[in-house]
Amino acid sequence: MSEYHTPVLLNESVEALAIKPDGIYADATFGGGGHSLKILSMLGRKGRLIAFDKDFDALANAPADDRLILIHNNFKYIHHLLRAEGYGEGIDGIIADLGVSSHQFDTGERGFSFRFDSKLDMRMNSLQKLTAQSVLNYYRESELGRIFNTYGEVPDGYRLAGMICTARKVSPIVTTGDLYSAISKALPKFCEHKTLAKIYQALRIEVNGEMDDLTEFLKEAAGSLKTGGRIAVITYQSLEDRIVKNAFRNIPFQPLIKKPVKPEESEIEGNTRARSAKLRVAEKTGEEKI
Ligand SMILES: C[S@@+](CC[C@H](N)C(=O)[O-])C[C@H]1O[C@@H](n2cnc3c(N)ncnc32)[C@H](O)[C@@H]1O
Repeated sequence: MSEYHTPVLLNESVEALAIKPDGIYADATFGGGGHSLKILSMLGRKGRLIAFDKDFDALANAPADDRLILIHNNFKYIHHLLRAEGYGEGIDGIIADLGVSSHQFDTGERGFSFRFDSKLDMRMNSLQKLTAQSVLNYYRESELGRIFNTYGEVPDGYRLAGMICTARKVSPIVTTGDLYSAISKALPKFCEHKTLAKIYQALRIEVNGEMDDLTEFLKEAAGSLKTGGRIAVITYQSLEDRIVKNAFRNIPFQPLIKKPVKPEESEIEGNTRARSAKLRVAEKTGEEKI
């Protein structure tokens, strides 16, 4: 598998799309291209795949294949972007594998992981202005607390936000080390890493607008699919999964499986990132549901 990223629930998610060899498909989250390559291997000469990623680094992973169009943009504009490519009539299937790639997580200077004492950046799209540093240094204490509580499910979120606001009066919070010094006294010693992981998750979700993008994407995806077209979404945390679950009930989708699919133990053993993955699949119905 690619060093960039090992695809999660690869067979389960792509098979759920019931690929037609001459169909038109979209991969909303190209990353290392694992899911895209599998889709391409199932397409014939006339099939097409339009893939998206808002991280410039992902673009280098594009295989030389004239059936693939890879677009650097946010998947929340999928309907507009597909129309611009001439696929406004509706496509046969969409896959989205949410969250960060291993490449983003393992590249120290991107600031996604507290394993590295790097600058707190966390932007998937380097053209964007908002970074984790800006969130930590300029957001109001109450906003920070809300983000930690909601996006990280950090029970002590408001207390940590208070500590950050006290520390930043002395000097700005720029690096992992600065953030750690600001809050270390409040981190439970027996699960310090777990709490830091939650804080980092919350910051990353805020910086990249992940929840809003996902909500918008699901509406746009509904407009992009033909009736009978399929959508497969892989999530990695409960908030995302809830958004997908609700969208599949309320916008013109019919869930194709009741319970989300989770990876087999053997997959988790080989790739710990797969641990929290959940796959939901739906079909676009002809009518708008209320
Ligand atoms: C988990 S990785 C996808 C991995 C891919 N399925 C593979 O097999 O290599 C998620 C990717 O989605 C991208 N991404 C996340 N949110 C996005 C958004 N709103 N618009 C476009 N790309 C996004 C990230 O930059 C990242 O490269």
